[in-house]
Amino acid sequence: MDTVIYKVDPLHPDEEIIARCADVLRRGGLVAFPTETVYGLGANALDPEAVARIFEAKGRPQDNPLILHISRLEGVDALVREISPRAKRLMEMFWPGPLTLLFPRSYIVPDIVTAGLPTVAIRMPDHPVAQRLIDACGVPLAAPSANQSGRPSPTSARDVLADLNGKIDIIIDGGPTDIGVESTVLDVSGDSPIILRPGGLTREDIEAALSTGRIKNGAVTRVTYDVCDTCGHGRKPFSFSAAGTALSPGMKYRHYAPRAEMYIAKGTPLAQRQKIIFHSIRFALSGKKVVVLASQENFPLYTPFQKSLLEGLFNVILLGSREDLSPVAARLYSSLRHSEELGAQVIISETFSLQGLGLAISNRLEKASGGKDLSELGSGPLRIVMVCTGNTCRSPMSEGLFRRLWKDAGEPYSVEVISRGVTAVPGLPASEEAVHAMRARDVDISSHVSKPVSSRDMAGADLVIAMTLAHKKLLLSRYSEFENKIRTLSEVLPGVFDGDVMDPYGQAQTVYDNTADVLEQSLRVLTKRLAGIEST
Ligand code: TXA
Ligand code: MG
Repeated sequence: MDTVIYKVDPLHPDEEIIARCADVLRRGGLVAFPTETVYGLGANALDPEAVARIFEAKGRPQDNPLILHISRLEGVDALVREISPRAKRLMEMFWPGPLTLLFPRSYIVPDIVTAGLPTVAIRMPDHPVAQRLIDACGVPLAAPSANQSGRPSPTSARDVLADLNGKIDIIIDGGPTDIGVESTVLDVSGDSPIILRPGGLTREDIEAALSTGRIKNGAVTRVTYDVCDTCGHGRKPFSFSAAGTALSPGMKYRHYAPRAEMYIAKGTPLAQRQKIIFHSIRFALSGKKVVVLASQENFPLYTPFQKSLLEGLFNVILLGSREDLSPVAARLYSSLRHSEELGAQVIISETFSLQGLGLAISNRLEKASGGKDLSELGSGPLRIVMVCTGNTCRSPMSEGLFRRLWKDAGEPYSVEVISRGVTAVPGLPASEEAVHAMRARDVDISSHVSKPVSSRDMAGADLVIAMTLAHKKLLLSRYSEFENKIRTLSEVLPGVFDGDVMDPYGQAQTVYDNTADVLEQSLRVLTKRLAGIEST
């Protein structure tokens, strides 16, 4: 079957298109539509065969229940056995909006919708297209996110098409969704409300709503809130129903997963970017394409790598500022999908505060990465080899300068730097002029002993920096298997240093001093970049 796409004005959708889609839904078809959170894949919730098609199209496990979508408050009545005062208050305050509530289900809700659970999840989306569509159908719509099961949720019609083309009847394209993460799923049936899935409505908003003012028939003035453990932020063990099934079955699956290997970075913003730089270099120079999802604050410190050292192997996608998490949430899923389009083999994301939308963002990042933190990866030293011809002037100076500059940059992680020559006679000291030029710069290379580069050096290195293009070419001809990690200094630092580092050998001390100056300026920029600190 061909999937038809109708483009509509999200605020004033064409009534004729809505009517046509409603007709398809009433006859048991599947229509994807925008909500304020993510795109949903709708079916007539009261038609078990139509609902079964949702599971089939998505490849969704049968034990994962669906959310019912309604367009008017009265719509709840027929679907539930009871509305608690607390639920009523939340409905009045937050519907329409990104809040899904659990109710004891009524007999008209088909088993397939709730996966046999005694409760039914219901929400009223805050989006004109969703509302008009549900209205026009005259029935509640069962609608999971319109992605292939296990994939990041869709925030645009394009994302839906990428996952479900040919498997559903219609996609209503109402542009990108606003919130970008799914609704908050809240269970208010027990004494203490439990967030089963953090989402678009914040924990703080729910707390404020329930802890202030009085609730009819009841006297709840203060309640404590538990976020379930499977979300990664729990204070209370995840609750199980009597039947032994998880309260929110959906949370047990590895959701939202991109195809690439994915990691998250934790710690202060500075610590995050230092880890990310270190591991991105490791991954990229070993030939894996890396995409970093970055905060606006850290973004500029990654971009130099994109255009120099890691060109073609490294991309940065901007999520948004740490000061305003709405854009971060809005871009999260599309950034995961975009990373894949860029050919990412490894995705690394920064993490954000747990305040407000941060709870949902963090939950989705944990799920997408399977909870894998960069810190779990080995972090032996980053190994750099400086290479010139005889290993008596340029490369030992680079080695010594790098060491001192790395200390100056605070040495946020361990870097081991050595120097070698492509045609070095072993056992020679550094030239006197080089030793002299270094001494003036607080660097002691008087005990340096020259060594020819070996395949062992090459194999052990993360990065090999050749002083000239000729050196690089020679290295490539001998060690083509290490092509990925061989760079000239000017490739590492274009715009900072261009061309070759010329050989000062046999020339006056001033020539050595000039070479030392150039190397020091260049390597200062490099060490600052590697340390994730401002290089100007
Ligand atoms: O924002 C959203 O909620 C989007 C849009 C389309 O409305 N929908 C959505 O649906 O995210 P879905 O199916 O991708 O996620 C529904 C979540 C799952 O984790 C599911 O296990 C949980 O809600 N859920 C549904 N019914 C439940 C129930 N009776 N008890 C506990 N959890 C339930
Ligand atoms: Mg989903």
